[in-house]
Amino acid sequence: MKAEDVGKVGVVGCGVMGAGIVEVCARAGLDVLYLEANPDLVERGRSRIEASTLRAVERGKLDERQRAEELTRIAGTTTIVELTAVTGRPAQVVGMHFFNPVPVMGLIEVVRAITTSDETVEFSRGFGAVLGKTTVLSKDRAGFIVNMLLIPYLNGAIRMLDEGFATREDIDTAVSLGLAHPMGPLQLLDLIGLDTALFVANVLFDEFKEPLFAPPPLLRRMVTAGRLGRKSGSGFYDYTS
Ligand code: CAA
Repeated sequence: MKAEDVGKVGVVGCGVMGAGIVEVCARAGLDVLYLEANPDLVERGRSRIEASTLRAVERGKLDERQRAEELTRIAGTTTIVELTAVTGRPAQVVGMHFFNPVPVMGLIEVVRAITTSDETVEFSRGFGAVLGKTTVLSKDRAGFIVNMLLIPYLNGAIRMLDEGFATREDIDTAVSLGLAHPMGPLQLLDLIGLDTALFVANVLFDEFKEPLFAPPPLLRRMVTAGRLGRKSGSGFYDYTS
């Protein structure tokens, strides 16, 4: 599949994930229109994309000309009618789960509902390839493949910290060096966003009723206190300085 076969892409929301998805679509040569709730959020989405593409230039992934070209493919709107609604038949509905940070992470989970046709799965895998990502196919249930494995691990790290079993630095260092992960679980929670991790844990617990998915009390308290991780300036670590 080529970029021309995909056509124009619509993205609903331009926060952490939406902005990343917009960026990788534009990088693949696709025109993208994103929808946000008000003009301030449209502007904030644009700033996120500008900052991330600038980082790509600084890291030698793009040159200035490519960045400028990429930015011309992106438009934001607050008007839902400008975004052609996907009102296709259930056979044309498919999930595509991207990972944070989207421009860097190489995976998309393609999620096949019980109604999704083979053609739709094939299209979304081709679309993923156009974006330069590897796709894996998951059936449709909470957590798909990755979060089903990730959430019990993250919950375990929070419980370990809360019990005073080890310090946050030692938990993160143990996993980074002992398992060669790019970051430890508490650092990863701060990247994902504690509100997002809580949401995902609740969805998994609702679906399976397994204690290992139940969000630990400390996670709930931190979200209530607004300590959401990097995006709020503090989570398990402080990001204000
Ligand atoms: N476009 C293209 N490339 C970019 C880029 C951009 N906008 N911004 C950064 N990069 C590249 C950099 O050039 C660099 O590439 P090289 O290694 O080839 O030089 C690479 O991305 C890493 O960037 P940085 O040097 O800025 O950052 P880092 O080395 O400190 O790594 C990290 C940061 C990528 C976040 C790394 O720590 C990591 O991979 N952490 C784990 C992330 C993870 O597990 N994410 C999944 C979260 S779970 C999820 O998303 C699912 C869910 O539903 C909860």
